[in-house]
Formats: sequence, C-alpha cells, structure tokens
Amino acid sequence: MLVSPSLLSANFANLTPELEMINSSECDLLHLDVMDGIFVPNISFGFPVMKAVSKVCTKPLDVHLMIVEPQNWISQVADLGAEYMVFHQEACTHIHRTVQAIKAAGMKAGISLCPATPVNTLEDIICDLNQVLLMSVNPGFGGQPFISSTVAKVKRLKYLIEASGSNALINVDGGVNESTGKLLANAGADILVAGSYVFGAPDPNQAINSLKVL
Ligand code: DX5
Ligand code: ZN
Repeated sequence: MLVSPSLLSANFANLTPELEMINSSECDLLHLDVMDGIFVPNISFGFPVMKAVSKVCTKPLDVHLMIVEPQNWISQVADLGAEYMVFHQEACTHIHRTVQAIKAAGMKAGISLCPATPVNTLEDIICDLNQVLLMSVNPGFGGQPFISSTVAKVKRLKYLIEASGSNALINVDGGVNESTGKLLANAGADILVAGSYVFGAPDPNQAINSLKVL
C-alpha cells in the first residue's frame, strides 16, 4: 500500500520535526490539503506555506485542492515541484482541459470526488487520469468518521479502471486508520491518505507502517 500522510493534522506551530518524521518514515507521498472557505467550509494553508514545506520535504507532494476554479492555480502548484495535482470534479467546469493543462505543466493529474458524487461520472476522463481521490468524509476537516459506503465505491471505481484500461491509482481520503484501511485495501485502493491517524498517533512511524503493510 502507498501511504500519503495529510499534513492538515500536523502541529503547524512546529512543522520541522513533523517533516523530519515524514522524511525518515516509510511513507510514499505527503498529502497537502488546500481549502478556500468557498468550496469547503474551512480554510487551511496556501502557497507560501506549501513552498516552505516543499523545500524541506523529500517525499513527493500529493496536492489536494479543495478550492473553486482550480484551473487558475496550475502553475503555482507546478512551482512547488508537486507530483500530483488533484482537484475536485464538483469545483471545475472544464475538467478535460484542466487535466491536460496539469500534465502539460509536468505533473500527474488527479480528480477527487465528494462522497455523493458517483464514480461513473469519470467514465469519459478515466483514461487520462493518474489518480482518483475518493473522499471518504465530506471534505473540509480532519478527524471525521469514515463513511463506510466508500468501500463499495472503491470496488466500482476499480471495475471502471480495469474495464477501461486506465492506469489511474485509487486514493482514499478521510477517516483512514488500520481497520478502515484494511477494508479499503481489500476493495482495491492503491493509496491511503491519513491525517489524524498518523499525526495524532503516539508513534507516527508505527501508524504509517501499519498502513504500509495492508
Ligand atoms: C479533509 C482532507 C483530508 C484530511 C483527512 O478534507 O482532505 O486529507 O486531512 O484527515 P483524517 O485522516 O483525519 O480524516
Ligand atoms: Zn485531502
């Protein structure tokens, strides 16, 4: 399993040890949650913070934009050296154009779906995607309980990916811990995002490793 800890649950008053933990851990990516107070009812952090983080973090960045008009921020995300730029289908009118522009900027493209958005809405774009990020909570906050219907949704997405010949990885975000992670792994998830489960753990490395082995 690929593991992408979400910085949203880190101690923002002292990020250096948090990033040292990430760099020396077995995790595969660092997940960065950008919120605008419009698409979601919360505001997290923006480009000055992410730029500083990108200079210290040695893991590839998995940037999750929970913002309206994500197409306006492609060059700024590319400037971070991000591996993935992931935006919400519900926040973007011209999805195909945005996916192509993300790739042209040298990044991998991902689309995120809120819990109520069906996976079959991706049918005509799935072959262009490198990642689909299924939200297993309503986006905007860390520490929310896992929405269990996401497990069946992962299976439907896996079927769509295999039937279409897409190479997209399935990422799941929200309420992930060892037990929900196991269900998601069995359903076909490739990447697990975990915020409070990792940064709230007495031993974050152990929490990361417990997801790695799924
Ligand atoms: C929520 C964010 C998540 C959040 C997950 O909108 O997209 O990445 O950090 O937090 P946990 O793992 O605590 O549910
Ligand atoms: Zn996220």
